[in-house]
Amino acid sequence: MKFFQLDVQEPELKAELDAAYQRVLANGQLILGPELAAFEAEFAAYCGAGQAIGVGNGLDALVLTLRAAGVGPGDEVIVPSHTFAATWLAVTQVGARPVPVEPDPASYTISAEAVGAALTPRTAAVIPVSLYGHPADMDPILALAADRGLFVLEDAAQSHGAEYRGRRTGGLAHATAFSFYPTKNLGALGDGGAVTTSDAALADRIRKLRNYGSARKYEHELSGVNSRLDELQAAFLRAKLPRLDAANGARRTHAAAYAEALTDIPGVTPPAEAAWARHVYHLYVVRCADRAATQARLAQAEVQTLIHYPTACHQQPAFAELGFRPGQFPLAERLAADVLSLPMWPGMDEGAPERIAAALRSQSGIS
Ligand SMILES: Cc1ncc(COP(=O)(O)O)c(C=O)c1O
Repeated sequence: MKFFQLDVQEPELKAELDAAYQRVLANGQLILGPELAAFEAEFAAYCGAGQAIGVGNGLDALVLTLRAAGVGPGDEVIVPSHTFAATWLAVTQVGARPVPVEPDPASYTISAEAVGAALTPRTAAVIPVSLYGHPADMDPILALAADRGLFVLEDAAQSHGAEYRGRRTGGLAHATAFSFYPTKNLGALGDGGAVTTSDAALADRIRKLRNYGSARKYEHELSGVNSRLDELQAAFLRAKLPRLDAANGARRTHAAAYAEALTDIPGVTPPAEAAWARHVYHLYVVRCADRAATQARLAQAEVQTLIHYPTACHQQPAFAELGFRPGQFPLAERLAADVLSLPMWPGMDEGAPERIAAALRSQSGIS
């Protein structure tokens, strides 16, 4: 069984993607045109945010937002010790210093207490990551940030449509960064990203930064970059956005089946969902007492698994200059050693979780 499947199965969606392509061809405008404007309005409304700004990818969404918020050299930014490296790369790319805090091991997200303990006079921002599709406990983080004048940027690259106390990611923090990388819950047919925010001045700066620092042709107010969500990707995303809730619902059904099927498997711990969260299971990540053995058993049963992520950020060569030591973030190191992602995609066969559990059960001697 494959880890996920990207080819379009639904004939109706395929027809809509074809129509989106034809619409862009007929219009002839390929960059910063009507499809992007429409997608930005539709995605902002979906998230409950004032605005969305389409950019080239999720990393740029983070970088441009930090730049627009004035975060730079001399600043510290609190990040989870366990996340995809892009969260940290965004901070180092603006010249600021990532200050890692260990996540809650049940939800893999950071808490206000952990953030509070890491504050220094140089702390300028916090990036809670809704890792694997589970949002962080945002209200206490936002309250702390309001007290200390900190900027809160949610990294929701993995959590389109996830909810925190009934509100969707994208409408929770001062700004939220999304990725539309093809495997994401809302995925384009190539790279893409967006920032959502209800801060009009911040949105205005991000719009300029993504387009050579310019709002009017050949007038460059800021030292910007070229990072725009193109018309074709925006048109494809418009076809997929109305299907996001159903796709997330299917992921949740698979997750419930996994949780039930895995209860009697020793050494495999399924993920948890906080009472205030609606997890969207971008990834279905279990913790393993013996990951190599579990992964090998599944490979024998032809079940593909992946590891998100095998090396903690503080041990990546890209961050060597920060001077972190092995053992400094023990939870991040433990997670890097024991997490395993099982197959998960909306169109996955409904019997898959039980078959995967059966493969683990038969080989661990439980009948
Ligand atoms: C948590 C997280 N942040 C940021 C990114 C960066 O997104 P992109 O791949 O679109 O640059 C990703 C996705 O890969 C991610 O998973």
